[in-house]
Amino acid sequence: MKFFADTADVADIAELAATGLLDGVTTNPSLIHKSGRDFMEVTREICALVDGPVSAEVVALDHAGMMREAEILRKIADNVCIKVPLTIDGLKSCKALTSDGTMVNVTLCFSAAQALLAAKAGATFISPFVGRHDDNGFDGMQLIADIRLIYDNYDFGTEILVASVRHGIHILEAAKIGADVMTAPPAVIRGLVKHVLTDKGIEGFLADWAKTGQSIA
Ligand code: E4P
Repeated sequence: MKFFADTADVADIAELAATGLLDGVTTNPSLIHKSGRDFMEVTREICALVDGPVSAEVVALDHAGMMREAEILRKIADNVCIKVPLTIDGLKSCKALTSDGTMVNVTLCFSAAQALLAAKAGATFISPFVGRHDDNGFDGMQLIADIRLIYDNYDFGTEILVASVRHGIHILEAAKIGADVMTAPPAVIRGLVKHVLTDKGIEGFLADWAKTGQSIA
């Protein structure tokens, strides 16, 4: 499963990238606002930090406007992935952009039927928002399972990018279903490593090691 960081915080991305565990980054207009940075400038910096896809979202709602903005965004770097909303104009833009060799992430997916349309439009990634789905009384993980089944039935190449991830259980469940990618806030990714028994184990080993009076040199 590929791990993307869902943030526009360059320092956080640099720290995660240094672990070698980061496969890409997703941003959205809200995350750009939170960063307080210039969209083009921060996207350029993020693209230089990671080798994998960096999603940058268009804000136009019509096809011509989306294509205009995509043209500007894709010049930033080769690893820019254009993010479009799951609307008819978004799907039309997705088809045009992917036919031209540009990576496209179709975002704001809340149903398996929408995911089917995105795959037919040739999307590189489909982003079902599990957290927001759960928040509204739906079962986010059932959505991922349904999309996996449909994509496998027809051998669609579109990758399932589990988005709006709130905690480690979302990541674990998505991995069990066989989602291709997940994107999560850096704090959630870092949280995966924590286990009280790991900390306790290290403490115990170090205490006993100190008693040996030895050093590794
Ligand atoms: C995905 O690409 C989105 O940026 C993101 O996962 C949305 O998450 P949220 O529901 O926490 O805003």
